[in-house]
Amino acid sequence: MIDQIIIPKAGKSQILKAFKVESEKNIAEYSVRVKVAFSGINFADIIMRLGLYQDAPPFPFVPGYEFSGEVIEVGSKVDRHKVGDMVMGGTKFGGYSSEIILPENQVVPIGHLSLEEAASLPVSFLTAYLVFFEEARVRNGDKILIDCATGALGQLSFQMLNTGGGSDLTIVGLTSSETKKEIIESYGAKAMTHSEFINSSEKDFDIILNSQGGASIKEHYKRLRPTGKLVCIGASSIFEGGKRSWIKVIKTVLEFPKFNIINLMNDNKGVMGLNVLRLFEGPEYLMSLLEKVDMFDLKPAVDKVFDASKASEAHQYIEEKKARGKVLLKWN
Ligand SMILES: NC(=O)c1ccc[n+]([C@@H]2O[C@H](COP(=O)([O-])OP(=O)(O)OC[C@H]3O[C@@H](n4cnc5c(N)ncnc54)[C@H](OP(=O)(O)O)[C@@H]3O)[C@@H](O)[C@H]2O)c1
Repeated sequence: MIDQIIIPKAGKSQILKAFKVESEKNIAEYSVRVKVAFSGINFADIIMRLGLYQDAPPFPFVPGYEFSGEVIEVGSKVDRHKVGDMVMGGTKFGGYSSEIILPENQVVPIGHLSLEEAASLPVSFLTAYLVFFEEARVRNGDKILIDCATGALGQLSFQMLNTGGGSDLTIVGLTSSETKKEIIESYGAKAMTHSEFINSSEKDFDIILNSQGGASIKEHYKRLRPTGKLVCIGASSIFEGGKRSWIKVIKTVLEFPKFNIINLMNDNKGVMGLNVLRLFEGPEYLMSLLEKVDMFDLKPAVDKVFDASKASEAHQYIEEKKARGKVLLKWN
């Protein structure tokens, strides 16, 4: 039997349920079976638990996009991995599970990372890589704004920009909490609260990473310099405190600006989007990017590990904005 956490229906964090299922007897010739050590929790898991994520499968389902663990069985044609290898991987749902069977190209060796760090890495690394190195293409001297600076993605972004993003970067990081500014400053960046930023004269950004969505997009767009790029990756302002409020949802959605191409031309600015989770549909490309981890000197910020049976508490911890990095589930 294997252990899993399901979202039975939309609801508060307490809705998450632990249950047991039979383990698959046989695996396909190009698949590997991984005994999961840690599963990463992503912000998207919370949005889908609230029933607000358009790409989520119908309830009930097992959420989870990333994990680390040990290969315990390989299919007859697998040549990349062997039993006993420590790996990390990405999966489109099903990650909150004590055992995962996946095609061999959806897992990679953890290298120098610990199992905790490895489970924290895939989604944040791929997102930061695609934003800063594929879409916006950071260059020496760039001025960069990161609006989700204290979480797993923000902290990995600082590390990737500092160790592989070129020289003379100026980075500003935003937080909703005065006490979390120290996290941003520890990476040599300038820390501001969202309201301090809005009331400031900070401008001329080359790259802005926007995860709040809604009205903040218009505000951030104004702060780009000509040829600057705004990359939109989320809508975290859609909820507050782990509760769904349709008024807040509708308000946030309506506040998403519509950009007129003629205006973009005249402003000399670019607006881009990214949904890395959709790219898990064609995992070969994503997994080839994961092999670039060694280009950077990374130490993913693992904040807190919860026993998997305490998944509700883990979600609540993130919703209450207590997280200072990645939050993980641990399987026994
Ligand atoms: N599109 C994509 O492909 C993609 C991929 C990965 C992540 N993302 C997005 O990027 C953002 C950061 O991801 P992450 O993995 O770093 O998340 P995380 O580790 O869970 O970070 C959570 C942080 O987000 C801030 N936050 C903003 N609104 C919040 C809210 N309503 N409730 C709780 N916390 C809130 C809090 O920081 P402060 O307390 O400092 O404000 C919190 O500590 C999220 O919005 C996520 O959806 C998008």
